[in-house]
Amino acid sequence: MRKSLGRRIDGLAKWLLGFRIISAPAKVIANSSYAWSFVSRTDRIRANRLGDRLKEGDLPEHVSIIMDGNRRFAWGSNIGRDMGHHQGKEKLKEVMDWILDLGIPYLTVYALSTENMRERPEDELESLYDLYIAGLDEIAEDSRIHSRGVKVQAVGRLESLPSRVREAIDRAESRTADHSDFLFTVCLAYGGREEIIDAVREVAEDHAKGELALESIDSAQISARMYTADLPDPDLVIRTSGEERISNFLLWQIAYSELHFTDVHWPSFSKNDLYEALESYQSRRRRYGE
Ligand code: FPP
Repeated sequence: MRKSLGRRIDGLAKWLLGFRIISAPAKVIANSSYAWSFVSRTDRIRANRLGDRLKEGDLPEHVSIIMDGNRRFAWGSNIGRDMGHHQGKEKLKEVMDWILDLGIPYLTVYALSTENMRERPEDELESLYDLYIAGLDEIAEDSRIHSRGVKVQAVGRLESLPSRVREAIDRAESRTADHSDFLFTVCLAYGGREEIIDAVREVAEDHAKGELALESIDSAQISARMYTADLPDPDLVIRTSGEERISNFLLWQIAYSELHFTDVHWPSFSKNDLYEALESYQSRRRRYGE
C-alpha cells in the first residue's frame, strides 16, 4: 500500500514538474518523504535505460556540484536539520560511486561557502564541521577510493576552519596523495570571489618582486594561481534544490561551463537525476563564443 502510494506520488510529481506553472506544488510533492522513500525503485529502471544511452555520447571530464537543499529536505521529511546534513553526506558518497562507475575523472563539490560560515548559527557550523571530519575519514578509508585511485583534496580558505577539520583534511589528502586516476575536490570555506582576490594578491606580489611583467598578466597567469590550478575547468555544473544561481562557486572556472538545475533536494538526488543532467549536457552544443 505504502509502496504503490509512493510510486504514484513520485509519478505525479514528475509529471507535474513538466509544467512550470505548477512547479511549486510539484516540488513539495517531489521532496515529500513518501516520494523520496520510493523514488529509488523507479529510478533503477530508468537509470539503466539512461545509462546505456549515455555511454553512446561524450561524457564531461569534470562535473561540479552545488549540493543544496539539505535543510529543506529535513524540514519536509520531519527530521532534524543535522540529520538532513547527514543524509547529504551519505548522498555525496553515493554520487562519488556513480561518478567513478562512469569513469568521470574530476568531481568537485561545494560543501561550505564563506557566506555559510558568516551566516549559519554556531551550533549548525559545529555539527557541519563534525560531519566533514566523519565524511573525510570515511572517504579516506573507503577501499573503493584506493582501488580506483582517487586522490582527495580540499580547497578554500582552509586556514579559517577549526584545526580538527584541517587535521581531517590532512589525513584524507595524505592517505590518497599517491593516487592519480580520479581527483575529488571538496570546496570548504570557499568563495569564488575570495579565490579571485587571493590570486590577484599573488599576481600583485609577483609583479612587485619583479617576477611578473605587467604585459605577461593574462588569464593563464590567473588560472595558475587559482586553488584549482591542477584541474580542468568544469564542463558541467549541477545545482540541486531548485535555486538557479551560482552563489559564488568557481566563478572564474565556470566561464564556459554548462549549467544544469534540478528541483530535487540534495539528499533526494538519485542516479537518474545525475544521468538526466549528463544527458542534458550531451544534448547541448558546446560553444566557446562562436
Ligand atoms: C547546503 O544545503 C548544504 C550545505 C551547507 C552543507 C553540505 C554538506 C554536505 C552535503 C556534507 C559534505 C560532506 C563532506 C565530507 C564534504 P542547505 O543547508 O543550504 O539547505 P537549504 O538550502 O535547504 O537551506
